[in-house]
Amino acid sequence: MLSGGAGTRLRPITHTSAKQLVPVANKPVLFYCLEAVRDAGITDIGIIVGDTVREIEAAVGDGSDMGISVTYIPQAAPLGLAHCVLIARDFLGADPFVMYLGDNFLIGGINALVADFCAERPDAQILLTKVADPSQFGVAELGADGTVARLVEKPANPRSDLALVGVYMFGPRVHDAVRAIQPSGRGELEITDAIQWLIDAGARVTPHFVTGYWKDTGRLEDMLDCNRLVLESLEPGLHGTVDEASTLVGRVVVEEGASICRSTIRGPAIVGRNTKIIDSYVGPFTSIYHSCSIERTEIEHSIVLEHSTIRGVARIEDSLIGKEVEVVPSSALPRAHRLMLGDHSKVSIA
Ligand code: DAU
Repeated sequence: MLSGGAGTRLRPITHTSAKQLVPVANKPVLFYCLEAVRDAGITDIGIIVGDTVREIEAAVGDGSDMGISVTYIPQAAPLGLAHCVLIARDFLGADPFVMYLGDNFLIGGINALVADFCAERPDAQILLTKVADPSQFGVAELGADGTVARLVEKPANPRSDLALVGVYMFGPRVHDAVRAIQPSGRGELEITDAIQWLIDAGARVTPHFVTGYWKDTGRLEDMLDCNRLVLESLEPGLHGTVDEASTLVGRVVVEEGASICRSTIRGPAIVGRNTKIIDSYVGPFTSIYHSCSIERTEIEHSIVLEHSTIRGVARIEDSLIGKEVEVVPSSALPRAHRLMLGDHSKVSIA
């Protein structure tokens, strides 16, 4: 499970936090990944960690809560996906394994893929899906017989629209490949190049196609999209308190210790543990994480991370708000927007 790396596309959230821990419907993306692997019967999981190691360890622990056993494998710098295989050599031994990118969101799990891999035992099994913007991904070209002919990482002029999804299965020959390849133009040991090395060496690389939903959650729009999708199938549940002046409409989860006062929550939406919603409107496709305070505010189609306060804001939409953020009206004159924003922040003022 790869959970190191930099996460430049989700800045400023990822200046200080791990992108794999950004919550979708109030659960970190990484947890969906770990559960998918566990549900396929794999409980011995090595997690590659970088600068955000403390945060990942605090969230996942030894994995026993989730029914898995976790070994943390530190990576000194994000030197590439194949570098992760290189440094996991002792953990992996000669066993076949799944490599799962901890920011990939795949609905439907990987049980069938693991079963196919175990039955066929190729040297590598890759997952492909058609995308509109292949130059953002590893891209595969298939031969006339449907086998993988060529793989290129983020090509400027892609020769197909088949992107590599971040779930790979390998036999032990991949260890020769990751030792043999050289860093790419962007200075990383690319797993794409390692798989190409296997193809060139005559190894068996089998493609599978993703038929369900898949997203690389690198960007804000992708996070909001995943959030929307998961909320749509949310099991409603009321575990906190809702006063008589409030209304909950549709699929709404109110987690333990949360309180809703004089507010309307129109689902699908989730309100996290110990969060207070007062005199506010929370609209569809909104996830408010734990220990937040939303007061005299309208918010819709957004994700708010823990310990944030939003007060007296007419309307917020399409937003990702980080941890311990304050968005409040300014009482001082002259009337003005007063901002303290992290590097790479984006603010659209209505
Ligand atoms: O999402 C699918 C794409 O993932 C594939 O189509 C590409 O072929 C593949 O290279 C990869 O591209 P990304 O640019 O999206 O990879 P990213 O740098 O975001 O890293 C993916 C995950 O692996 C992320 O959770 C961070 C982690 N990582 C990344 C690197 C480079 C590490 O743990 N260590 C690393 O050295």
